[in-house]
Amino acid sequence: MTDTSQLQAETLATIAAATTPEALESVRVAAMGKQGSITALLKTLGGMSPDERAVNGPAFNGLRETVTAALAARKAALDEAALNAKLAAEQQDMTLPVALPASGSIHPVSQVMDELAEIFADLGFAVASGPEIEDDWHNFSALNIPESHPARAMHDTFYIAQSPPDAKLVLRTHTSPVQIRTMMSQKPPIRIIAPGRVYRSDSDATHTPMFHQIEGLVIDKGITLAHLRWTLETFIKAFFEVDDVVLRFRPSYFPFTEPSVEVDVGYNSKTGKPAGAGQVDKWLEVLGSGMVHPRVIEACGLDPNEWQGFAFGTGVDRLAMLKYGLTDLRAFFDGDIKWLKHNGFSAFDLPSISAGAVS
Ligand code: DAH
Repeated sequence: MTDTSQLQAETLATIAAATTPEALESVRVAAMGKQGSITALLKTLGGMSPDERAVNGPAFNGLRETVTAALAARKAALDEAALNAKLAAEQQDMTLPVALPASGSIHPVSQVMDELAEIFADLGFAVASGPEIEDDWHNFSALNIPESHPARAMHDTFYIAQSPPDAKLVLRTHTSPVQIRTMMSQKPPIRIIAPGRVYRSDSDATHTPMFHQIEGLVIDKGITLAHLRWTLETFIKAFFEVDDVVLRFRPSYFPFTEPSVEVDVGYNSKTGKPAGAGQVDKWLEVLGSGMVHPRVIEACGLDPNEWQGFAFGTGVDRLAMLKYGLTDLRAFFDGDIKWLKHNGFSAFDLPSISAGAVS
């Protein structure tokens, strides 16, 4: 083996043996640097005779080109290996479940109130409200429930001990006083719903001292029981999302409506849901309603010969229980985080009823 081919073989071997870019750089400097072995060999060409140079020149230059190419190829291989190692180290497992931040949920009562507000908004009803600490006159007297009336006893009222002498205060026992407040503060035509908290001294699996009602009131000219019936049917169908839901209208009594009706919804005890024709094996009372009593219209300063209307009132908690299959009313208000997580609604869900009550 000539010196040139031996030097080439040795240099290529050290290049192949270099396993890091730094080691390869040392090999390059040792061969091709200022003091490098190949540089030194090339320098000897200057001291040669033209004949010697004619023989050695191409051989030395060939050596230099071979080594230069080998260095470049090795560098590319090491760079690629380094990149692959880095990518492998940085690889992320996208299939791992993400730890989501804890998020709250919408309580079934709030959800149902939103759904109801949406259905009635489609029917042209505005949302009205009134105080939870109410006076006797708005809660009872103006609604045609005079002081001695037995209907007062039905309400298990919480009275406020330190009431001002001229206005006995109570925790409102129903949302009906919002009817009075609305008729006294707005000119008809009126179309409102009033969702809110109400209070009665009562507690068992289906009663809590605080619960939620939604009141509805329409006052206009020429309003009849037919308007009431259509409105309630449209609302119940949209709310329960059962197109052929069956309703039963029963004559009833409320002091503030005449005539009064109670509305039952047909129910299927196997599915545990309101049902269509032919599926009903049970009736559940869902709301009270009727034509607003002329005395109530009069108490609000309106002429009952000019203005008529209908009203209805229903329990929001009960509607939520029926629609979402919840059984214990008390659990609604225990604030148990597990119950809320299981039965609550995502704030990011589109309201289920947004397609509209009337199309
Ligand atoms: N206020 C009644 C209650 O608490 C419910 C009710 C019945 C409201 C008939 C009405 C109605 O507006 O017309 O039990």
